[in-house]
Amino acid sequence: MAEQLLFTRTADRTQVYAEILPQIESVISSETDYIANLANVAAMLKEALGFFWVGFYRMQEGELVLGPFQGPLACTRIALTRGVCGAAATQKATLIVPDVDQFPGHIACSSLSKSEIVVPLVDARGEVQLILDVDSDQLNDFSETDALGLEAVMDFIRQRHFPV
Ligand code: SME
Repeated sequence: MAEQLLFTRTADRTQVYAEILPQIESVISSETDYIANLANVAAMLKEALGFFWVGFYRMQEGELVLGPFQGPLACTRIALTRGVCGAAATQKATLIVPDVDQFPGHIACSSLSKSEIVVPLVDARGEVQLILDVDSDQLNDFSETDALGLEAVMDFIRQRHFPV
C-alpha cells in the first residue's frame, strides 16, 4: 500500500517536474537578481508540488543562513555540523531522509516535518554556495525523481548565478 502510494506520487511528480522545469529555467534566465530568482523558485516548487516547506539556505561565512522560502517559520542559521542541511553541505551531495526522526542531529523546525530532501549547489571551484531544503509532512515522501528534478533546478541556478 505504502509502495503503491509512493509509486503514484513518483509517477505524478515525474510529470509535474517535466512541466515546471522549463518554466523555472525561463524565470531564472529572465532575471539577473539572485534573491528574486530564489524567491520565485521556492514559490514555483511549493505551488506545483505542494510540499510542506521549500526554501534555500545560503552559505555565509561558513554557516548556512536562511534565504527565500515558502512555508512556516524556519531556523535562521544552521552550522555545517548540524542537521540534514549541514550534512548535505559537508558531503556536497543530495541527501534524502525518509524519516527525519531517524536522522541523528536532524533540526526540527516544525514537528510536522516527517521526511526531507536537501540538494547542495556546488560552484566551479568546488565550494557549496547554496542548499535547497524541501520538507514533507508525509513519511518517505521523496525519491530519485525528486532528487533528479531538484538537482536540475539547482543546476539552472548554478549556471545563472555561479557560472565560473
Ligand atoms: N530540518 C533541517 C533544518 C531546516 S528546516 O527543516 C527548514 C535540517 O535538519 O537541516
